[in-house]
Amino acid sequence: MVLNAIKSRQSVRKYSDKPISDEVLNNILEAGRLAPSWVNVQPWKFIVVKSQTTKDLLAEAAGRQAQVKNAQIVICCIADLDDWSKTKFGKVLAQKGLDEATCENIVSSNLLNPSNLGEYEALLRSVEQLTYAVSYMTLEAEEQGVGCCIVGAMANELTKSNSDAAQKIKDSLGLNNKQVLVELLTLGYDANPKPAKKFRKEAKDIIFYEKI
Ligand SMILES: Cc1cc2nc3c(=O)[nH]c(=O)nc-3n(C[C@H](O)[C@H](O)[C@H](O)COP(=O)(O)O)c2cc1C
Repeated sequence: MVLNAIKSRQSVRKYSDKPISDEVLNNILEAGRLAPSWVNVQPWKFIVVKSQTTKDLLAEAAGRQAQVKNAQIVICCIADLDDWSKTKFGKVLAQKGLDEATCENIVSSNLLNPSNLGEYEALLRSVEQLTYAVSYMTLEAEEQGVGCCIVGAMANELTKSNSDAAQKIKDSLGLNNKQVLVELLTLGYDANPKPAKKFRKEAKDIIFYEKI
């Protein structure tokens, strides 16, 4: 049951030395790849980082968060704004078997293609899509017994902080100006496993029927 994984998952920030096998890593990546997205646009790229030099750069950009430096693997989760372009979005739509006129209507619609409104809108919607992929990866990591932590507090175009660190990361990862590193998923086996504690708002405070 997915709810069991949701209940037992918690952010893990201290990792053991146990390596993560390629098979386990591939299952986690596959969960992200298969996530749903807006008209199936899939405006994402995932860069698997194992190099300590790159992990150190990423940790620096993330305000020296230790779990980034010490993770076995870091998955860099990138929003690729070019995936909303007529050519790339159109190609995904054509794969679904849609005819040319329908594809053209979708890619040129302000309602269905946020990039027609501007780069900010495309970024906003790309971040939204990434959330699903990252969530799926966290749940598959839990299923595989691997601990992980999402790291969103980092230098990038969204936080507009530490532009030097942000540029170093872009160069190191080979990102172009349409590719934004939105967040990291740090992975490793939990050095100190214990049952999850959930500090969440109560259902009565957030769930309503018909009216708030
Ligand atoms: C988009 C996002 C960004 C996050 N960024 C960070 C971060 O930069 N550093 C960190 O230690 N945890 C980060 N977290 C983890 C949250 O702090 C954590 O999920 C929350 O406190 C609930 O705890 P739990 O994951 O253990 O249930 C982030 C979570 C999300 C969803």
